Amino acid sequence: MKAVYPGSFDPITYGHIDLVERSSRIFDEVIVLVMENVNKRHFFNHEERMRMVRHAVSEFSNVSITTHSGLLVDFARANNVKVVIRGLRAVSDFELELQMAHANKSMLPELETLFLMTETNNSFISSSMVREIATFGGDISKWVPSCVREEFRKKFVR
Ligand code: PNS
Repeated sequence: MKAVYPGSFDPITYGHIDLVERSSRIFDEVIVLVMENVNKRHFFNHEERMRMVRHAVSEFSNVSITTHSGLLVDFARANNVKVVIRGLRAVSDFELELQMAHANKSMLPELETLFLMTETNNSFISSSMVREIATFGGDISKWVPSCVREEFRKKFVR
């Protein structure tokens, strides 16, 4: 059975990578889907986010990376995917995630959303926190792999 793990990954963090690893042990195939979140202004462009994700999850043999610019349900329908994976860090994540899961299910009833709780160590990591710390020159090595740190370095070199 295959599952899709969608996100904007701006940038990918160890929290996301942990979810990819754990879902790759549950499903035969996991598709990491790099998408646009229309409610966010992305810091990294699409190509940069794809490049970081590709590097960060390259060690998992049953994980592939792709992109889709429309609705998640259209991707799921076209690729015969029946499970969406999303991570929950805290209760504060739940409301929006519940809305998205219901919206997706009402558009495509056979699509199930499976929530995985992030590991305790990763429960406070967010891409926005990483962006803020990196922007002010802080050390982000505990939260993101070297390919992400390299993309930040490229951005800040003038
Ligand atoms: O990592 P993010 O930003 O929380 O990911 C959110 C994402 C990209 C998965 C979500 O915005 C999404 O599914 N976008 C595609 C458009 C869509 O299908 N929207 C319907 C769900 S409300």
